[in-house]
Amino acid sequence: MASAALLQRLALLTVAVQLTAAASGDTTATSTAAGQIRVNCGASVSAADSDGRTWDRDDAPSAGGGGVAAAASYEDPSLPSAVPYMTARVLDSTYTYSFSFPARRVFLRLYFYPVSYAGRAAGDALFGVAAAGVTLLRDFNASQTALALNAAYLVREFSLNVTAGGGNGRLDVIFTPSSDAHYAFVNGIEIVPVPADMATKPAPTLANGGRPDPMPIRADTAFQTMYRLNVGGTPVSPGADSGLLYRTWDEDSAYIYGAAFGVNYPKDSNVTIRYSSPPYAAPESVYATARSMGPNAQVNLNYNLTWILPVDAGFYYLLRLHFCEIQYPITKPNQRVFYVYVNNQTAQAGMDVIALSGGIGRPVFADYLVVTAPGAGQTDLWVALYPDVKTSPEYYDAILNGLEVFKLQTYDTNSLAGPNPPLPAADGDSGPRAKKKKRAEFVVGWAAAAGGLVAVLVGCFCAWAICRQKNTKAAIVDVPKKPVRETQALGLHGPTETYVFSVTAQK
Ligand SMILES: *[C@@H]1O[C@H](CO)[C@@H](O)[C@H](O)[C@H]1NC(C)=O
Ligand SMILES: *[C@@H]1O[C@H](CO)[C@@H](O)[C@H](O)[C@H]1NC(C)=O
Ligand SMILES: *[C@@H]1O[C@H](CO)[C@@H](O)[C@H](O)[C@H]1NC(C)=O
Ligand SMILES: *[C@@H]1O[C@H](CO)[C@@H](O)[C@H](O)[C@H]1NC(C)=O
Ligand SMILES: *[C@@H]1O[C@H](CO)[C@@H](O)[C@H](O)[C@H]1NC(C)=O
Repeated sequence: MASAALLQRLALLTVAVQLTAAASGDTTATSTAAGQIRVNCGASVSAADSDGRTWDRDDAPSAGGGGVAAAASYEDPSLPSAVPYMTARVLDSTYTYSFSFPARRVFLRLYFYPVSYAGRAAGDALFGVAAAGVTLLRDFNASQTALALNAAYLVREFSLNVTAGGGNGRLDVIFTPSSDAHYAFVNGIEIVPVPADMATKPAPTLANGGRPDPMPIRADTAFQTMYRLNVGGTPVSPGADSGLLYRTWDEDSAYIYGAAFGVNYPKDSNVTIRYSSPPYAAPESVYATARSMGPNAQVNLNYNLTWILPVDAGFYYLLRLHFCEIQYPITKPNQRVFYVYVNNQTAQAGMDVIALSGGIGRPVFADYLVVTAPGAGQTDLWVALYPDVKTSPEYYDAILNGLEVFKLQTYDTNSLAGPNPPLPAADGDSGPRAKKKKRAEFVVGWAAAAGGLVAVLVGCFCAWAICRQKNTKAAIVDVPKKPVRETQALGLHGPTETYVFSVTAQK
């Protein structure tokens, strides 16, 4: 696997891409220097997926623990493409896929389609995966995870520093069945180089008093992508991503709390998205759509626009909020200013996208570090927006264009592994999300787990049903500048032990 010939071909490919990029003056490709690797596990020939990306055949030997190549017993109609899902490598003992790879940061994506293979029941697969010295998955039950997420297939995305774990010049991906009675399987392995400055810089600054020494994020930290949402927009498929990173961006509406959806809208047609740095932070389609609170200032002052994102307890999370003002008349500072709350704490007061970005159509993102309480199982991340009226802005509103949540590895146990998500209760299918048809679940979107909460709280928000109009263009209206009672910003206390740090804001 990952033979010298393959690497050579990839290196050539990269050169070609860079030349094209330079010729067209496009900065997109300059950030992804080295080649990419895609293995169609269990397949004897290379093949293209629906995005036109080529997946190489799987050369793993059947002797020496390489298990067996198997075909899926059934093709679910929701699979985006037969490649790489319809073939798998099925492993009865520990097996290592070994890739020669330059020392750098990469996305490692593992593709799983849990059905029966080679006569083995899907539910008998239970295994761990490790790479770059970090446990990525432990006792992973793909069937249960897919059931819990109401998804046919799963893609797990990790960001790894290839140098970590002694792997200088190679990346070993190790699959280990949990016991003799269980097996491991994988349908696809993808390795995509990540620009070095895409992971966060160390030494975050403290936004919300109480902890003088926020955790520095080490350069070799491994991350797992938990959520990547095109807020107020439509899903972005890997082929439509920027920077040749082949990320998937999901819709955000499944994660909104209660019935207060705010309004989602596209950019004005005369607004151009202009990046100040290479556009790999997020594609234009993420910045070109947004969700705001709604047209009515009084309504906005009475609710928080909130996303609830279930995550594994006991880890640190990096939240990346993408912003871009995309509609007139918001072109100047102090027109739309708002709070960002994370887990009911003020992560940011006075968030003013224009002041931060420098103008309409200018993307910017801000990172926050969240420390969840020690413990097993799941916990919810709450991300909420609310008007900050301290400086009497012109509009009492808030905006968000994109939202990413990354889990950080533990430094003591070098692990990213969380529990398998719990199955929803048999009769608990009444939440709005449960009604959604079976869908692709790119990252760990635990909508099903949050469904119960939503059902309980919908009632409180029915008064604001007015905010639900979707695709409304006029998201902003004038409000009288009369004094308003302000929400109290909470300090570092509350029901959960959570610390929120503002890390960076970058254009
Ligand atoms: C995996 O989860 C499924 C669904 O909950 C269950 O039926 C199966 O027994 C589990 N497999 C193992 C090995 O625990
Ligand atoms: C990877 O980690 C090493 C330290 O282990 C660090 O020196 C290097 O800068 C890191 N590389 C990237 C791309 O972050
Ligand atoms: C862009 O279009 C909007 C309405 O669609 C208008 O209000 C605004 O004045 C226009 N701006 C410019 C610079 O043309
Ligand atoms: C935030 O506050 C709400 C209302 O008090 C509460 O129900 C919820 O559990 C809190 N969320 C977190 C993550 O603490
Ligand atoms: C919005 O959330 C903040 C932080 O949790 C809370 O203090 C405030 O009461 C909430 N406001 C409304 C109107 O729900």
